[in-house]
Amino acid sequence: MINLAVFVSGRGSNLRALYEKFIVGESYPKIKFVIGNKSNCPALDFAREKGIQTLIVSKTSSEKSISYKELAGTLNNNNISIVVLAGFLKKIPDDFIDEFNGKIINIHPALLPRYGGKGMYGMNVHKAVFENGDKFSGATVHFVDKIYDHGEIIAQQKVRVDDAASPEEIAGKVLEIEHLLLPETVLKIAEQIISEKGLV
Ligand code: GRF
Repeated sequence: MINLAVFVSGRGSNLRALYEKFIVGESYPKIKFVIGNKSNCPALDFAREKGIQTLIVSKTSSEKSISYKELAGTLNNNNISIVVLAGFLKKIPDDFIDEFNGKIINIHPALLPRYGGKGMYGMNVHKAVFENGDKFSGATVHFVDKIYDHGEIIAQQKVRVDDAASPEEIAGKVLEIEHLLLPETVLKIAEQIISEKGLV
């Protein structure tokens, strides 16, 4: 069994897409933790509703949250093989990235390396694509390194957006792609881990 930890900050539609894809069988990866950066957001509500354990992380621990160091311990003790950033808006500290190097992936709502980097998140991305009149946009799943949106690209899917009348419309088209690409990519990584470890 491959265990996942999914980091979220907001709406949680990618978390839902993962949940819906992986709920059906024992052989699928299991979402063991959903981790947020604040106590309440729709993504965390969804996780709680589905009985998935939630944790809140911040740079230093408080009454309501644990530190990244504590979180790393918990994830290691629970054999988490893949950490998925699904709309997580905080920068992950370098130590945590070092500890889970090659295991953290992120979904970005554009065709990286275009429209990536600091400030390129949410509607900012889609506005830029719209203003440039690009024919295509899409989604990218990539490994997370210490630079925003910079790690190795694992999977990408394009969608035509030159018929979109607004950045919001582009966002909708890209989101549909994200909901397919992220679960498919996580599944492929999980299968690869299983074949390497000989656990099939
Ligand atoms: C997605 O567009 C994702 O690509 C980006 O943040 C958004 C999160 O949406 N990183 P949701 O919370 O999964 O609905």
